[in-house]
Amino acid sequence: MSIIRSHDITLCGGNDEYKVILCPLSDEHLPYLYKWNSDSEVLYWTEGEDIESYPPEVVHQIYGGISQNNLCFALKVNNEIIGECWLQKMNLPNVKKMYAADADVRRIDMSIGEKSYWGHGIGTLFIGMLVKYAFECEHVDVLHCFSEDYNIRSRRVWEKNGFQLVFTEEIPQPHKGKVQYHWRLTKDEYQERKIESF
Ligand SMILES: CC(C)(COP(=O)(O)OP(=O)(O)OC[C@H]1O[C@@H](n2cnc3c(N)ncnc32)[C@H](O)[C@@H]1OP(=O)(O)O)[C@@H](O)C(=O)NCCC(=O)NCCS
Repeated sequence: MSIIRSHDITLCGGNDEYKVILCPLSDEHLPYLYKWNSDSEVLYWTEGEDIESYPPEVVHQIYGGISQNNLCFALKVNNEIIGECWLQKMNLPNVKKMYAADADVRRIDMSIGEKSYWGHGIGTLFIGMLVKYAFECEHVDVLHCFSEDYNIRSRRVWEKNGFQLVFTEEIPQPHKGKVQYHWRLTKDEYQERKIESF
């Protein structure tokens, strides 16, 4: 039996420099996930706590668990697998309470595990593709995403994709971040932004 529950959705996009494909994450990507999840520099940015490394069993728990009910993608750029992202049903009760009980609220989590690709605009590109898919194909009502104060690249990716800062939450100390930022993009905001860009 496979560890990661896969799906059959592939998203294509990019620009003149980077051909970007979001393909279904599956067990064939586990060697990449082991590598990135044992790199303390990558984990510094993805985890709230200071984690040096996750062993394979924990990697199985994380990706095996999340993929059961959510869409997980591998990020392929110019034919190389460099990262992963998730489109996940909102799992935090305090955030769900901010919206109507029947609203389809999701979050996106993202990571480029190959560090040499950080800061080249790829995050902004692939999150744009996933946002488009979420609203236009999955008919999501709201995307509600997060970044901590020290992660400026993450913050910029949300901002550049039209997300609004809606809530700032103090993080109990001691902790790496002092503040958790909550970013929101609704279906209507997405449509308005699309019309404006024509
Ligand atoms: C977060 C992540 C997906 C962003 O993708 P990316 O391709 O690196 O980001 P982009 O290049 O699209 O955008 C980064 C932006 O941050 C800006 N930036 C980076 N460092 C900065 C700094 N010190 N001060 C100000 N802006 C900074 C860049 O200038 C760019 O903004 P601009 O286009 O307006 O100039 C990627 O960096 C990553 O995976 N990092 C490690 C894991 C992680 O942080 N995951 C997110 C957890 S919430």
